[in-house]
Amino acid sequence: MGLRERVLGRSGLRISSLCAGTSPLASMPELYGYQVSTDRAVDTVLAVLDSPITMIDTSNGYGFDGAAERVVGEAIRRVGGVPDGVIIHTKVDPDPATRDFSGARVRRSLEESLERLGLDRVPLLALHDPEFMTQDGFAPGGALEELVRIRDEGIAGHLAVAGGSVRVLQEYLETDEFDVVLNHSRYTLLDRSAAPLFAWARERNIGVMNAAPYGGGMLSKGPAEQPRYGYSERGEIVALRAQKMKDACDRRGVPLAAAALDFSVGSELVDTTVLGMSSPERVAQTLMLLETPIPEELRAELDALALPPENWLG
Ligand SMILES: NC(=O)c1ccc[n+]([C@@H]2O[C@H](COP(=O)([O-])OP(=O)(O)OC[C@H]3O[C@@H](n4cnc5c(N)ncnc54)[C@H](OP(=O)(O)O)[C@@H]3O)[C@@H](O)[C@H]2O)c1
Repeated sequence: MGLRERVLGRSGLRISSLCAGTSPLASMPELYGYQVSTDRAVDTVLAVLDSPITMIDTSNGYGFDGAAERVVGEAIRRVGGVPDGVIIHTKVDPDPATRDFSGARVRRSLEESLERLGLDRVPLLALHDPEFMTQDGFAPGGALEELVRIRDEGIAGHLAVAGGSVRVLQEYLETDEFDVVLNHSRYTLLDRSAAPLFAWARERNIGVMNAAPYGGGMLSKGPAEQPRYGYSERGEIVALRAQKMKDACDRRGVPLAAAALDFSVGSELVDTTVLGMSSPERVAQTLMLLETPIPEELRAELDALALPPENWLG
């Protein structure tokens, strides 16, 4: 299928159909099961910047003290600034100590991000994981109000809302202030919870970013090596279905990761697929995976192995 250029809905941003995710670069062994050194992380971002992938997804909250943003910032500095046509997408997060997610914290979060990234504005800024907010994001003085102000000041070109819970993302999208939605782990070979949300967004020309096509690694490394799906243990059926998917892929000589990528990148519902990689070699490897032919019969077999809706994350 290969890498394509796409337009990210009504944001009008031109992006590649793959976007490099950076949470594994923040070295979070509790989520991914391994450490990543800063040098390896910077080299990975440099490999992305040297590839046809033109979008990088990061966040104020990835790792201790903005570790992922620092790595992205370091790589940007080493290449002398953001290369033409590359879109850096970051997200505002609550204060890690107090969980404050007020409008004032949103502003501070952005200021921290800009400093770490070495930028004075970002083309796209997301509200991160609103389902975990302890304050009302819609209230006067709250997160939404401040994000709109930041966009109106031009410090962010467009707003996105990023998270898991489909219901909460929909609530924010209904304000009509967000040009882009990002959902994770809910539109994959295993879980389809986000399909109606993506279709709804599509009808309104809201850009769609589908993150974690491997569910955080189960659908790339296999359930034996990555037993978590969507960052937690999910019970036997999830690992069992993933293993059956891997067996089906093995029988046809197709890497499971290639099939998982094909599901998202090939979907009419998705503008860009955000996947995590934590070594420079992965970048070229991923571009190769995208070229892997996936037989129709394998697609059908994998489709039949998707989890039943009662096991979806929702
Ligand atoms: N709420 C949000 O906004 C939100 C939530 C989740 C994710 N995201 C974004 O989306 C990105 C993607 O999510 P994710 O990184 O958690 O999960 P993912 O993309 O589903 O999976 C990443 C995992 O897959 C592994 N992997 C990648 N390519 C592989 C290959 N060819 N073979 C074997 N393993 C491979 C990576 O391993 P290696 O480290 O060994 O390369 C990593 O452990 C994140 O990095 C983040 O930027 C956003």
